[in-house]
Amino acid sequence: MSSPVTEALKERRAIRRYLPQPVPEELVREILAEARWAPSATNTQSTYVYVLSGEPFERFKADLRMYAESEVPEAPDLVNTREMRPQLKARQDELFRTRAEFIAAEEAKMGIKPQTPPVSPMVAGADVFGAPLLLILAMPREIGIPYGCFDAGLFAQSIALAAHARGLGTCINGSNVRYAELLRKVLPNTEDKYFIIAIAMGYPDWNAPINRFPRTRIPVDEFTTFVR
Ligand SMILES: Cc1cc2nc3c(=O)[nH]c(=O)nc-3n(C[C@H](O)[C@H](O)[C@H](O)COP(=O)(O)O)c2cc1C
Repeated sequence: MSSPVTEALKERRAIRRYLPQPVPEELVREILAEARWAPSATNTQSTYVYVLSGEPFERFKADLRMYAESEVPEAPDLVNTREMRPQLKARQDELFRTRAEFIAAEEAKMGIKPQTPPVSPMVAGADVFGAPLLLILAMPREIGIPYGCFDAGLFAQSIALAAHARGLGTCINGSNVRYAELLRKVLPNTEDKYFIIAIAMGYPDWNAPINRFPRTRIPVDEFTTFVR
């Protein structure tokens, strides 16, 4: 079966390099007006969205770079504490390996030489993939982490699909909420909320190999149990 929804589900991918072209605020409003139809627990619509651009975004990126260069330990509002089981770790390793191999091969074809010495991924990531916009999703502290995160997750995928439908790319990412205090410098009066996840948004640079590497998914029977 094929429909615009099924196609969008498969075509959307994380975009990690953007064109400098700005995204009009009206377009972001349109995307958010569509995404707000995401389900939420008892229709509480608990997700708050902060859209960072312009000068405050530049200040945030400069701070992020400084923290990354000084290797400041991460301090997000919500912490992932448990170590992954080997099966999950193996999938993560496969992503990093296949992506790096694809990029190296493509860059060699394009005549791009590897950077010497290589920049640390955190420092390189401080430019937020060159995106013109960064959306920060937050939840009120009092509603409880399971539903707050679940609502925000559904909202995030809805934003990504609504953006995709308009030729925009997104990268849902935890990396840009890893220093909650840096976010609060540009987003004051947010102590009553938890920052959950970030979404970079902009027009994709399709020439960048990082936006073109083949992605994989495990077969349905590897994660599904039918109990008949
Ligand atoms: C909760 C969450 C956190 C993520 N954090 C990052 C991140 O910090 N940096 C990044 O480049 N991508 C991040 N991603 C994107 C995933 O790596 C990506 O969705 C996954 O590899 C599947 O690829 P696809 O989205 O292109 O299909 C994150 C995605 C999710 C859902």
